[in-house]
Amino acid sequence: MAKMWEGVSNAVTDKLADDFNSSISFDCKLYKQDITGSMAHASMLGVTGIITQEEADKLIQGLEGILTDVESGKLPFDENCEDIHMFVEQVLTERIGDVGKKLHTARSRNDQVALDLRMYLKDQVTTIVNLLKELVETVTNKAEEYKCDIMPGYTHLQRAQPITFGHHLMAYAMMFLRDVERFNDCYKRMNVCPIGSCALAGTTYLTDRVYEAEKLGFDKPCLNSIDGVSDRDFCVEFLACCSLVMAHLSRFSEEIILWASWEFKFITLSDEYTTGSSIMPQKKNPDMAELCRGKTGRVYGDLMGILTVLKGLPLAYNKDMQEDKESVFDGAETVIKCLSIFSKMIKTLTANTENMKNAASKGFINATDMADYLVKKGLAFRSAYKISGQIVKKCIEENKTLETLSLEEYKQFSDVFDSDVYQAIDLKTCVSKRISLGGTSVSSVEMQIKEVRKILDDINL
Ligand code: ARG
Repeated sequence: MAKMWEGVSNAVTDKLADDFNSSISFDCKLYKQDITGSMAHASMLGVTGIITQEEADKLIQGLEGILTDVESGKLPFDENCEDIHMFVEQVLTERIGDVGKKLHTARSRNDQVALDLRMYLKDQVTTIVNLLKELVETVTNKAEEYKCDIMPGYTHLQRAQPITFGHHLMAYAMMFLRDVERFNDCYKRMNVCPIGSCALAGTTYLTDRVYEAEKLGFDKPCLNSIDGVSDRDFCVEFLACCSLVMAHLSRFSEEIILWASWEFKFITLSDEYTTGSSIMPQKKNPDMAELCRGKTGRVYGDLMGILTVLKGLPLAYNKDMQEDKESVFDGAETVIKCLSIFSKMIKTLTANTENMKNAASKGFINATDMADYLVKKGLAFRSAYKISGQIVKKCIEENKTLETLSLEEYKQFSDVFDSDVYQAIDLKTCVSKRISLGGTSVSSVEMQIKEVRKILDDINL
């Protein structure tokens, strides 16, 4: 088939080379951005007088028709076209005649593809930020629901100190809130318009790049045409942001999987977001969380992929860059799917607060509070720590808990012990006394909830 770039080359390529070179099978996803970008370009060519207004109107009308027909399914993508840009231009020329050939004045596919990808990712960022906001809101609401429910807090996956489930959940709200901030920040650099950079050197036509940038909703045009066509930092940043979201989702997933196990039984996932086993009738598997944990690997892979494509790549455009698209498409789609399902899974889970409380009452997670009690009675912390350790040891040997030791038994370790020790080591006291900023007390967690909600309200992209 004759190529649009027939010139110095007779453009007769091997079929295998054609297939290898072709990107339409995946960049057809960019049809909307490509067509909208072309409309703005045609409009700019018209207002600057590079083509006549009448010609510009014809181009725009033709492009509108293509968009409508692609969306309705009337116009299927032609796999024989090299990429989406060639496809649109070819159909346009078929439909409106020779004037269609004027569309590509003062631009190149190099700046066109950079534009399309930025437009596409700007939309994805908006979708992701909205999903993240929904997740933060969902997690925060759950935290509010369980702000008084005590569970063991862990370090090294060993029971450490009492916390509330609400406090634990708010830690995740903070992570996802940072993700929102990160995406908002990456959006700023994405929001710079490369069109008009042309192949790499700019153009001799008197174009209006500011007009085109504004028309397409960008902050400004890029300042250097070589950078305009070579820069894919925004893809790296985007996938780095996606990777961190996945890191957070996979940590959360791991805990959900643990909590939903018979060993913990801290939570029950809704039937809607669990699956059964084909052979074991008792099974209720947390597949959604497992898949989010698993899909983290592919998003990290997408990030590594784009970083490696860019490594050592000389300026300006190189065909290597065609490999940018599948990574960002996959990263975006995976994060969107995971976030959508995750919010629903969180919204519908219930906590088994009795089990959490029971777990908290074992494992001596109030031992730090006992040491602190002794410090308040005048002992140095190191001595208090040692005595508390000895008491825990006795309890383990005699299968007792700190709460069930008698005062006489306590006094054998130190005579500063008094009956107020029981109050001091009560788990409720341990939690309610941790009023430090960011701490686990109900009032501290309420403050966190309030602050997060306020930040959520103030965010706008
Ligand atoms: N399909 C190409 C890509 O995705 C479009 C740009 C082609 N530019 C070129 N000079 N061959 O990167």
